[in-house]
Formats: sequence, structure tokens, C-alpha cells
Amino acid sequence: MCGIVGFIGEAKAAPILLEGLSKLEYRGYDSAGIAVRDESGKINVVKAKGRLKVLEDKTDSGNAVNGTCGIGHTRWATHGEPSEVNAHPHYSEGHSVVVVHNGIIENYLELKEKLVKSGYSFESQTDTEVVTKLIDYYYKKTGEPLTAIARTMLRVRGSYALGVMFSEQPDKLYAVRKDSPLIVGKSEKGYLIASDVPAILSHTRKVYYIDNLEIVEITRENVHFYNIDREEIEKEAVEIKWDAEAAEKGGYEHFMMKEIHEQPEAVRNTIGAYVKDGNIDFGKGVFDCEQAKKLERIYIVACGSAYHVAAVAKYVIEDITTVCVETDLASEFRYRNPKLSKNSMVVIISQSGETADSLAALRLAKEKGVKTLAIVNVVGSSIAREADSVIYTLAGPEIAVATTKAYSTQLIISYLLAMYIANARGEMEKQTFDKMLSEMALLPKRIEDILHDKERIQWFASKFANASNVFFIGRGIDYAISLEGSLKMKEISYIHSEAYAAGELKHGTISLIEDGVLVIGVMTQSELYDKMLSNMIEVKSRGAYLMGITNVGNYSIEDTANFTVYVPRTDEHFVTSLAIVPLQLMGYYISVARGLDVDKPRNLAKSVTVE
Ligand code: AGP
Repeated sequence: MCGIVGFIGEAKAAPILLEGLSKLEYRGYDSAGIAVRDESGKINVVKAKGRLKVLEDKTDSGNAVNGTCGIGHTRWATHGEPSEVNAHPHYSEGHSVVVVHNGIIENYLELKEKLVKSGYSFESQTDTEVVTKLIDYYYKKTGEPLTAIARTMLRVRGSYALGVMFSEQPDKLYAVRKDSPLIVGKSEKGYLIASDVPAILSHTRKVYYIDNLEIVEITRENVHFYNIDREEIEKEAVEIKWDAEAAEKGGYEHFMMKEIHEQPEAVRNTIGAYVKDGNIDFGKGVFDCEQAKKLERIYIVACGSAYHVAAVAKYVIEDITTVCVETDLASEFRYRNPKLSKNSMVVIISQSGETADSLAALRLAKEKGVKTLAIVNVVGSSIAREADSVIYTLAGPEIAVATTKAYSTQLIISYLLAMYIANARGEMEKQTFDKMLSEMALLPKRIEDILHDKERIQWFASKFANASNVFFIGRGIDYAISLEGSLKMKEISYIHSEAYAAGELKHGTISLIEDGVLVIGVMTQSELYDKMLSNMIEVKSRGAYLMGITNVGNYSIEDTANFTVYVPRTDEHFVTSLAIVPLQLMGYYISVARGLDVDKPRNLAKSVTVE
């Protein structure tokens, strides 16, 4: 979490830092701060509690802060409450060392104790102030910034991306990372550092990805990269292909609504990237037929919505291939000592490619000698780089904390993976394969059709803006869809919601159903339709108000449900791509009706880089 930006060059730094931070606010938004060196060499630090707007007002949009070299930060609190004193940048006495940090230092209390014994005092509750003073400690001992940073890296445990300034090094900016993302961009005006691409896209598309335990030294004219032994290393800049417009709201009130509407295109692009001439091709060396033939078991590991994609993928892969699929929450997988069978593969799904638990799960799988495949949206992210192979989703930048288009593109890769395996193993008729591919090609248009009818959902959602409990029920794939529908509801509307396998209701949860409670039944699987209908009737007779989501043609639902949304018919393996859209809209419209901050819901951050 947290966002870092830095700039050194031939322009006023503060407005550039604030603009960059505004693009990173989705990473954290409880306080923000900047540090800029002025012409006299003094490093001025300005911080503010609350949204970035407060800092912008305090600095007249950066115009009140002079200087051409600085660092900035937007915070998602881990150690210490959101407050001005805990906000970054942190500094040592006399601002000799000034630091912004993303990540968590695990041994900060132990280090703090040692620093206190050496005469340091602390004003914040943060781990970042400890790192700052540790760098200061080593700098005072060695007088050499690279050595001070490298020694600090050897002493701290945990994850970090740091932007560092030294008052005695006027024309230099330092950055370093371990397990938290960091990039360097080169623009016409100078160099930038950032935790994520959108922060620098308006300045440059030329980016260097910093690897773990690498140190960056930036001057006005040059950038140098070093390993932890301070040996210089070579790095190639990468061209970012994202459209800068894609990282802006483009006329929509919220990023989430914009991203919901970008789903047809994101899905189309993702299909187009891997379906060629009626075949599925993930690219050379990514996942080949021989590997698919030998596969016995797949473990799909992810967090949050990406885990809900895994839940869908399990149903699809097991239905059309003979491969067993296990799904795991990354935070559980990494600590449960999983027994990974020979001829198995671990698939990690992640939009950001930086989720701490997913990254740790990937590393564990690699340690255990199992082949790993990542399904990732952010090019060059840690998971993408560390996995044995990677299939990128082509969702483009996703800014809203609640994922929509990345989730939709992850679904597409899951379907393609299932079909690829089935085809490679000779477990699917050519005719079925072709039919499924042509159905898949129609998904973008069908999503568009659902979006055309969004006002109906808006109307229905407004009636439930004051609900305190919502239940989502389904069976099979419909249960997996319910998991995501429920998460969308709770994360942005703050209404308590639960997803239940409909057959499980009678084992306890049905006692929560009382007059007026909204139950949303997802009923797209023809074989399970009648059973779902019975479950809907059971809750209705206990007072539930029913919303049904089903396929066009299933009109018998009208006798039971109070409100129905029909989705176009498709291959039932792919129906999640359609049925999820009304549920995304439900969450969105309820959040708007409640007057909440849709794109930046409380307590959440887009990229969960701490465990
Ligand atoms: C869902 O809307 C959330 N943003 C969250 O559950 C997210 O899917 C999860 O944190 C995983 O993130 P990742 O895809 O970047 O790994």
C-alpha cells in the first residue's frame, strides 16, 4: 500500500509530486506529505492528515514550495494512526536524511531500541522513522550514502520501497526496494521515481523496473543502478504502452463506473491477444501442450476477487478436463505447508502483481520445485517477473479499489487455460472447442448489452441503499459468482453481505433470513436451476425480498423473484462474465446512493503489498 513519488530535474518539483500522488491515491489516502529541497539547500517537509486535497490546499497546489528535487508520499496506515506526525516523509535531526516508504519493516521495534541506545529519539509510531534514523546512523558512520543505504538494507527485515534524500547530497535522489514495487522514469524535464506507472505516465513512457535489493542513484542528468554490494549494474528502459487517457476518469463520475464500461474492450483485447486463427496461443515457452498433457493437478492461489476467479476456474477446468484443481487463498496457502504433487502447477492470479501474500505463495511454490504460472495485469510487476511464465490480462490500468475489468479479463484467461488444457490432452472435440471460442468472441457485445440496461439496476439498487444485510446465493459456478457479487457489495457500500452455497443455507444461515432481507439468487446453470428455485422459495417463505439473476428465457422465475435481471445466453462455462456485471452495478449504485467514496472505500487500498 502507500504511494511514493520522487522528482529531480529542471522543473518545480512540488506540483509534479502532487500530480503524481493524485494518480497513486488509490494506494492509500489517510495522509500525505512532500519534502523538497530549496535553492538554499534546505529540505522543507510539508505533511497533512486526510486526503491529498488537504496537502494541495496547504501548499497552493505545490506552488508555495520551491525547489527542483523532492519526494512525496500518500499513506495507508500500518504502524500508527493516520496523523500528521505519522505521515511521511520522515526525517532525522536537521533533515539530514529524509525518507518516504512503502511496505512494512518487521524488526523495527528491535532496531528502534538499538537506535535509542545510540541517542536517537522518535516522535512517530512508524517503522519508517526507524529506517530513516538507521540510514542516518550509517551515514554518520560512513559519510557515504550508498553504503549507508546498503547497510540499512542488510539490517532491516520486511518489505520496502524507499525514496531517500540526504541534506549533504544536494543533487541526488536515492531509491531502493525489496518486495514493494518501484520504478524510475526518464522524462524531458528530469527523472522520476514512483510506486506505479500512472504516477509518471503524463511525463514519460520510458521506465526502468527496479528489482529486489537494488539501489538507484539519480542525479539531474543520470541514473545509476547498483546491487546491494554497491556494484553498478546495467538496466534497460521499457516502453509503457498504456494510454495516459486510460488512467483518467474520461467523463465518468468514478473510475469504477468507467472501468465497468471498459470491460467489453478489456475482454475483447484479452481474447484477441491469445486467440489466433481459431487456436489458443499464450506465446512461446509460456505453457505448452507437453506441459498440459503431463498435468495432474493445478493449484490456483490468489486473494480477494482474484481468488473468486480461481473459484470459477476450478468449476470450468474440472468440468472440461480430467485435471484436478485446488484453490487456495494465498494467505492460507503460504502457511499451511501445502503438499504439492509432482506434475502439478501453481497458478497465481493477481491484478497488481504485487500482492504480498500472492507473491509469497509464488515463492513457496518455486521453493517446492513446482512450475508456476502467473496471470497478471501489471506488466513488469514482481509476480510477473518471478513466475516461471506469465500470461498478461489486457485490462489496462485499473484505478478503482474495487476490481471490475481486471477480474473480467482474469476470467477470460481462466477459460482459455481450461480449453487449452482440454484441447492439448485430447479431452475436447474440435467442434466443441470451435463453438466455445465463437461463444467467447461474443462476450464483449453481450456485456455491452447488459450495460445498456443499467438504469433498471440503478432504480432497484436505490431501494436498498439502507439495507443492513444482503445475501447472495448460488450453486456451482453461480456460487463462485455470488462470492464476487457479495465482495463488490460490502467493500464499496459497507453493507454486510454474505455469499452462500444455496444448498448450505439450511445448515444454519437461513436463521438470519427475516422480513425484507434482500437475497440475490444467481441462477444461470440449467442443471441446477430447479434446485435454486426451491432454495429461493425457501427464503421467500421466511420473508426474504428476492432478486434473481438468470438467463434470458428462464421466465418461470417471475413467479418467485420480486425483481429479475436477465443475462444473454452463452456457453454456461462463461456465464460469470455476464452475470457479474449486474452485481458490480448493484454494488456501485448502492455505494453512490449512500454517498460513499466509491473509488476509495474506507480502510482499503488498491494494492495490498503487506500481509
Ligand atoms: C477486490 O475488489 C479487491 N480490490 C481485492 O479483493 C483484490 O482483488 C485483492 O486484493 C487481490 O489483488 P490483486 O489482484 O492485485 O492481487
